[in-house]
Amino acid sequence: MKHTPEILAALRKNYCHSELLEETVEANPIHQFRLWFDNALEAELLEPNAFCLSTVDSLNRPDSRIVLLKAIKEEGFVFYTNYNSKKGNDMALKAHVSMNFVWLELERQVRVRGTVEKISAEESDQYFYSRPLESQLGAIVSSQSEKLTSKTLMENAMQEALNKYGVEKPTRPEHWGGYLIKPIEIEFWQGRPNRLHDRLRYVKTEKNWTIERLYP
Ligand SMILES: Cc1cc2nc3c(=O)[nH]c(=O)nc-3n(C[C@H](O)[C@H](O)[C@H](O)COP(=O)(O)O)c2cc1C
Repeated sequence: MKHTPEILAALRKNYCHSELLEETVEANPIHQFRLWFDNALEAELLEPNAFCLSTVDSLNRPDSRIVLLKAIKEEGFVFYTNYNSKKGNDMALKAHVSMNFVWLELERQVRVRGTVEKISAEESDQYFYSRPLESQLGAIVSSQSEKLTSKTLMENAMQEALNKYGVEKPTRPEHWGGYLIKPIEIEFWQGRPNRLHDRLRYVKTEKNWTIERLYP
């Protein structure tokens, strides 16, 4: 076993990549996010659009999973999934969610808290049909989050779908589509030496955003 308690305790990195200052950040956090997202793309990070999405169930028990950011709009962040999945059911009950991006190579984290709503069917269609055929079929044959009694069952369904839709165009299932997360708070975290990290939190006001610095 490699991870002895001593090795785990000694895993430590001093962060010194860059600095985050009130004077130089954008006034709008979506614009600031766009800048950081560009930096993540320029750095050629693996899956820079992957983020941890947290939801709560009817008993307020949290749950988290990774999904992929697919659009950045002035109103918020878009991702796609199965509306009948565990997360879909959670969000139907409680529209409050959080998102977390970590870009370790840049020593950065972004935390978002907000409310979620479904995007329009037209917009979901547009994205669905832009995906490769196999991904479209994957969405059709997967009852995401439900128990699967045998893997062969799903593989056979995929094969049938490939045979069928090799000739005719598939239709987006109504239970598959996008969500828009509208932020109420966005925090940008930049690692700094000696654990004195920079944290700037934007909080939505009626018309604008305020920016506050937090102790690390
Ligand atoms: C890198 C990565 C990207 C993923 N992207 C998505 C995605 O965009 N949409 C999605 O529904 N699931 C995605 N998943 C799978 C989810 O993490 C999760 O397993 C699935 O959505 C079921 O979650 P749920 O049962 O909580 O609803 C991704 C997983 C990983 C590791």
